[in-house]
Amino acid sequence: STLRRDLRSRDCYAVLMDLTYRPRRLRRTPALRSMVREHSLTAADFIYPLFVHEGAGVEPIGAMPGTNRWSLDRLMAEVQRAWGLGIRCVVLFPKVAEGLKTEDGAECFNEHGLIPRAITQLKHELPEMTVMTDVALDPYSCDGHDGIVSTEGVVLNDETIEQLCRQAVVQARAGADMIGPSDMMDGRVGAIREALDDEGFEHVGIISYTAKYSSAYYGPFREALDSAPRVAGGKPIPKDKSTYQMDPANAREAITEAQLDEQEGADILMVKPGLAYLDIIHRLSEESELPIAAYNVSGEYSMVKAAAERGWLDERAVVLETLLSFKRAGADLILTYHACDAAAWLRQG
Ligand code: PBG
Repeated sequence: STLRRDLRSRDCYAVLMDLTYRPRRLRRTPALRSMVREHSLTAADFIYPLFVHEGAGVEPIGAMPGTNRWSLDRLMAEVQRAWGLGIRCVVLFPKVAEGLKTEDGAECFNEHGLIPRAITQLKHELPEMTVMTDVALDPYSCDGHDGIVSTEGVVLNDETIEQLCRQAVVQARAGADMIGPSDMMDGRVGAIREALDDEGFEHVGIISYTAKYSSAYYGPFREALDSAPRVAGGKPIPKDKSTYQMDPANAREAITEAQLDEQEGADILMVKPGLAYLDIIHRLSEESELPIAAYNVSGEYSMVKAAAERGWLDERAVVLETLLSFKRAGADLILTYHACDAAAWLRQG
């Protein structure tokens, strides 16, 4: 385009470009910007993950500043606080006592276990809050894997699914609204759907960890639950979860996983981690009509916290920008440890 002189100005350096399109017109005032804003965040988008433990009191989690392991008698105060901030869904993760961990993770379907008791209490005291659970063996397994490890060191698919179905039914019986299989065994969504339906829990939903990658970003979470893969007895234990969680190099495979989960009856599809996998969130949101969830995982949380503690980042601005990026990529909901902080910031405006 050509430069032309601004006839209103006597300053001969004041020139106007002959531009038809000036995108800045719509960025000129806060009112204009808010009018053309494509995406927004609200507290109702968030799912708040909470760690529970059998012990007394509140234990801060070292690798995740600002998060805690809650005892059952302290849990409700935190859940009520989240509710007051507009959060409508929580997901519960257990730190299981070492003595209860076994090779087959059978504690996961103990109806008097930590999670069923936490769910029962929560639904009794605040029935309107949606309760989501995690289905996988790792917090209950002495091997620290999401499934049963054979004597040859293979994570067994179908045998594990038996346990997962029992776990899901016990959680549903305790009052869970949404079951979240995070284990990545093949066929578990369909099996869990059938098990729930057989027991009369056809109203209980499945939010599937559809595209869950084998990621180093889960490190702080495994510290929180002391659930990392470990060498126990004499058998070989796979050191990571790459025989069942997805390879970070793969994108198309996520679509296959999404198609399978849809066919098997998932209600919501989740991508995990979030920030390094925005392309996957976007692809699934284009491929599927189901709601898409993004998991802003522990390592993503801890990175921001660490930088903010040193004054290297503006925590509030970075967190809200990150959460908004999940919405822009195509997520409808976001699991995030920042949920309460973000809800409070949004309220302040
Ligand atoms: C367990 C599970 C993990 C997370 C959620 N459920 C860890 C893992 O797969 O090793 C990670 C969550 C986070 O890092 O915030 N199956």
